[in-house]
Amino acid sequence: MMSLQTKVLEKINSLPRFNFLHLPTPLEFLPNLTEKFKGPKIYVKRDDLSGRGFGGNKSRKLEFIIADAIKKGHDSLLTWGSLQSNWCFQAALASSRLGLKPLLLLFYQDKKPEDEGNLLLDRLLEAEIRFYQAPSGKVVTRDLASSIIEKLWPEFKSRNLNPYVVSVGGSIPFGSMDTPLGAISYILAFYEAWQQSQSFGIDFTHIVHATGSGATQAGLLLGSKIFSPQTKVIGISVSDEKTSFAQEVRMIVEATTRALSLELDIKDDEIIVLDDYLEGGYGTLSGRVIDVIKLLLQKEGIVLDPVYTAKAMVGLIDLIVHGYFQPQDKILFFHTGGTPALFAYGKQLLFQGNSLVQGK
Ligand SMILES: Cc1ncc(COP(=O)(O)O)c(C=O)c1O
Repeated sequence: MMSLQTKVLEKINSLPRFNFLHLPTPLEFLPNLTEKFKGPKIYVKRDDLSGRGFGGNKSRKLEFIIADAIKKGHDSLLTWGSLQSNWCFQAALASSRLGLKPLLLLFYQDKKPEDEGNLLLDRLLEAEIRFYQAPSGKVVTRDLASSIIEKLWPEFKSRNLNPYVVSVGGSIPFGSMDTPLGAISYILAFYEAWQQSQSFGIDFTHIVHATGSGATQAGLLLGSKIFSPQTKVIGISVSDEKTSFAQEVRMIVEATTRALSLELDIKDDEIIVLDDYLEGGYGTLSGRVIDVIKLLLQKEGIVLDPVYTAKAMVGLIDLIVHGYFQPQDKILFFHTGGTPALFAYGKQLLFQGNSLVQGK
C-alpha cells in the first residue's frame, strides 16, 4: 500500500508549478545564538534565501499560485496588503517574471506612502498600484478588499484585463484561488527541511516561525503530521490575538486536507499560536525587536525584518530564557524573509531599546 508520505508528495507534485526558486534553501546551525542562551540547539531554515527578489515565504506559495493563474488563462494578478507588504512585492515580482501584469491595492495607516522598502521595489517593478487608507488601527478585512475590487472590476474589464484575484498572503481560498496553494507549498517546505535534518542526523523537536495570514503555519503543521509527528510547530503571531488566529489556521488546515484528500486529525492543542510578542501591534517596533535585529546581525550575520521575523525571534529567545524548552531540544527557526521592510524603518531602528538580550 502507498504510504501517506508518498501519496501526499504525489498529489502535490501533480499540481502546476513554476520552479523559479533556488531550492532547497540552506539549513544551518546558529552556534553563537545557541552558546549565548545555553539552552537548546538553535538552527535556521533560510527561506530568506529562496533566490528571487529578497527571498521569503511568499515566493514558495507563488510558484504554485502563478502557475494556477496561467493555467486558468489570466493575464494579470490582483491582490492587496499593507504599504510595506512582503506578499505584495513578492507577488508583483513573481507575476512580472512569469508574464502576468501585477495589480496591487496597498493600504496605509496614518503615514502617506513613501517610496522605500518594499514599496520602492513595487515601483521599480512598475506594478500598477492603488493606495487606500486602512481603517484606523485595523487589519484590512477580505470584505473591505472585496468591495473595492468589485468597484474596480468594470475598469479592468474595459481594459480587457482578466485578473487572477488572490487574497493577502496567498493563504485563504478566495477569489480565483480555490485550492489552499500557500499551505500546500509549506507542506513541501517542511518536507525539504525534514530531509535536510535527516542528512544532518537530527530530529527537530520544535519549529518556531512568524505567523501572519496562516498558510505557513497550516502547511508546516500538516508537514509535521505527515513526515515528523514529534515536531511541534509554534507560530508567533505578529498581528492577531491567538484564539481567533488559531481558528484561521484551522480553517486553512481543513481546506488543505480536503484539497489533498487527507484524513488527518489535527487537535486544537496542536495549533500553537502565541500572541505574547505583538510588541505593540502589527508593524510596531519595540526595544526588544531592535535588540534582536542587532543580535542576529552581529552574532550570526543574519538579517531579520522588524515586522515578522524579529518578533518571532523575540518569542523564541523569550521562550528559551523562561525555560519553555528542554536543554536537549533542537529548535528550527524558519526565517520567512521580509528583509526589504527593514529599510523602511530607517532611524527608528537606531533608537536604543530595553533589552531582552542582556550583556550583548
Ligand atoms: C516575512 C514574513 N514572515 C512571515 C509571514 C507570515 O506568513 P503567513 O502569511 O503565511 O502566515 C509573512 C506574511 O506576510 C511575512 O511577510
